[in-house]
Amino acid sequence: MTETWHKHDMDFLGGRRLRRSRRTAWSRAMVRESVLTPADLIWPLFVIEGHNEKTQIRTMPGVERLSVDLCVEAAKAARDAGIPALALFPNTPDHLRSQNGAEAYNPDNLMCRALSAIKSAVPEIGLIADVALDEYSSDGQDGLVRDGEVLNDETVAVMIKSALVQSKAGADIIAPSDMMDGRVAAIREALDGEGFEQTQIMAYAAKYASFYYGPFREAVGTGSRLVGDKRTYQMDYANSDEAMREIEQDIAEGADSVMVKPGLPYLDIVRRAKDSFNIPIYAYQVSGEYAMIEMAAAAGAINRDGAILESLYAFKRAGANGVLTYYALEVARQLGK
Ligand code: PBG
Repeated sequence: MTETWHKHDMDFLGGRRLRRSRRTAWSRAMVRESVLTPADLIWPLFVIEGHNEKTQIRTMPGVERLSVDLCVEAAKAARDAGIPALALFPNTPDHLRSQNGAEAYNPDNLMCRALSAIKSAVPEIGLIADVALDEYSSDGQDGLVRDGEVLNDETVAVMIKSALVQSKAGADIIAPSDMMDGRVAAIREALDGEGFEQTQIMAYAAKYASFYYGPFREAVGTGSRLVGDKRTYQMDYANSDEAMREIEQDIAEGADSVMVKPGLPYLDIVRRAKDSFNIPIYAYQVSGEYAMIEMAAAAGAINRDGAILESLYAFKRAGANGVLTYYALEVARQLGK
């Protein structure tokens, strides 16, 4: 039996048909509101010791930890693809982790060697150095721990030293990811005092205590150490006003740009921040978000490439000036074609 459709009398539309502009590819291109370019993408890299060494991360299929020489190669590829900056995270060898996190300010630590190797081989790319103690401490917390308490001011004192060795090694942007109070002002003052007036600070201003960081903790080797959670310093996922207060404070303390993290589940915060403050706002598509796309795609549930681009456009639509994403190189290359 053949179906027949009858045209309904749509006079009430009065000629207003929003689908008109979506009918053809040229028209969709013409009305598109957001753009994504390689300059929007910041690429996080995990650094390990060794030479010509790469290791897999079980919970982040497709992402590898790289030795310093391979980070240099990655930096060249990133530069050639138009990526403006890299964000580095060290996987510090176990025997160098300690309760006082002293490796964080060893001028010859893995992070500093990676920064200076990349800076001298690929001076055109920006280098973002994460400052927090979890990558150096035996506790897996972002700060110093005494009697189960994560100390604020004592942690800030160590972070200053860490930021200084990183700046000397070649970091262009210091990115405190720890959520201690007052660290932006303290780092700014220390940098200025040592002649690093041009070193920027990208503050992880609204960083939530999130379950989406799991794969990252495997990548940098902190997950198995962490006892408890980070809720005494990272934010409660139920809050939004508080994020505005954190951002306001970091701007007042001298941040050059701020970050919202995680990304996709927190786009309301990105949009609200964009509407409230006149400062560049970055969002971090974190490891758990990456894993969700990869694993859903591997299970045949979603179209991988389509979902990746959609997720990155969503950040732009929400008002982000850029996105830290493990997809940066792949997508920058694709956009450049
Ligand atoms: C720690 C840090 C974390 C991430 C970046 N810096 C994890 C944490 O706070 O436990 C997460 C990034 C990601 O999940 O991709 N200073």
